[in-house]
Amino acid sequence: MMSLDALLDDLAGYIGKPETSCFSLPPDAYLSPDLHDAEISGIFEKSWLCVGRDEYIPEAGDYYCIDLLDEPMVIVRGTDGTVRALNASCRHRFMPVVEGRGNAKRFVCPYHTWTYATDGRLIGAPHMEGSDVFDKSECSLPEYRLEIWKGFIFVNLDDDAAALEVMIASTDAATKNYRIEEQTEVFHYEREWEGNWKLSAENSMEYYHHIGLHAATVGGPMPAKGTYFPETPPVDDSFTHERCMIAEELLAGGDHPLNPRGDLTGLTREELQSGYLIYVYPAFTMAMRAGSNNWLAFRPDGPEKTKVLGGYLMWRDLVDEDPEVTEARSVLIEQVNNEDALATTELARMMRSRKAARGPLSPFEKTIAQFYKYLGRTLAGDRVTTRQAAE
Ligand code: FES
Ligand SMILES: [Fe+2]
Repeated sequence: MMSLDALLDDLAGYIGKPETSCFSLPPDAYLSPDLHDAEISGIFEKSWLCVGRDEYIPEAGDYYCIDLLDEPMVIVRGTDGTVRALNASCRHRFMPVVEGRGNAKRFVCPYHTWTYATDGRLIGAPHMEGSDVFDKSECSLPEYRLEIWKGFIFVNLDDDAAALEVMIASTDAATKNYRIEEQTEVFHYEREWEGNWKLSAENSMEYYHHIGLHAATVGGPMPAKGTYFPETPPVDDSFTHERCMIAEELLAGGDHPLNPRGDLTGLTREELQSGYLIYVYPAFTMAMRAGSNNWLAFRPDGPEKTKVLGGYLMWRDLVDEDPEVTEARSVLIEQVNNEDALATTELARMMRSRKAARGPLSPFEKTIAQFYKYLGRTLAGDRVTTRQAAE
């Protein structure tokens, strides 16, 4: 196994490399527990991570629990309508005050029945009158940073991180015409995939694999061969993106379930004629067409497993109008996601071979080269500076 030092040196090597000269990461980058730890502390504990959609909790008191990098949290819409991410561990002696999902007026800890309001305030604690140190106002459930962007709930474990809008500004501009805020989820996806999170990430940021893995599903309508890389907005430390040309036969019209429908005003010709994939670092991706959005978010579960959360969104009025297309697309997306899950399982298995070796990236995988550069800058940027100083 390569040392952490060697792996970080390797990542630093991507920073100045032309995108067309990049190889994939070495197998150990997907297996090393040390690199995994460095990614958790250097990336995931400091970044905005998508934990779901606010439409999962439309009513006051609606909640769902989620484990984010071993942080037990409950995402809850308070009686004031505000969505919060609260630590779900009781302030008395650590019992989970709530699990699963549902609707509650308050959270009652099952251990000694301390009771919390949906905004996290402790509102009841039996038999604490004789305590010299008990102060109800000091015993609220701690809150994590949470922000909502176009219906997506993002949480950041770093209380000092810059606001989400700083990170999402480029994505916001690039996706404006797609009217994501008018979309609703028609298909929900939540699984654990085998393999390191970077395998899932890479798989979800290129159309190249449509040529093989998705040949029977979306490879026809969205072929690999027309892949290109938009120049605006220019990629930065927050995202990478690419487009694929929609197949000629679909552009000619017809009744294919993937054809754009609904109110297409405001979409450019390019947006109507291409698929648009935008990958927001570190672990959130949207594959869009006019009126639809197949999104996924990844959370590492140790170096060798990845929690995958996602769904398929469509413009709300379209869902009401056309239940058959909604159903057809949902079935298709489930197939596509299953194909992707299978691929990452196979990659994770094969890279354990003693003969496994990195290979050259295709120019259609420029997004992956950019992702490696991002990893290099974030985890090993200081090494380049040190190296340059030494030269
Ligand atoms: S641990 Fe929750 S009330 Fe005691
Ligand atoms: Fe795929």
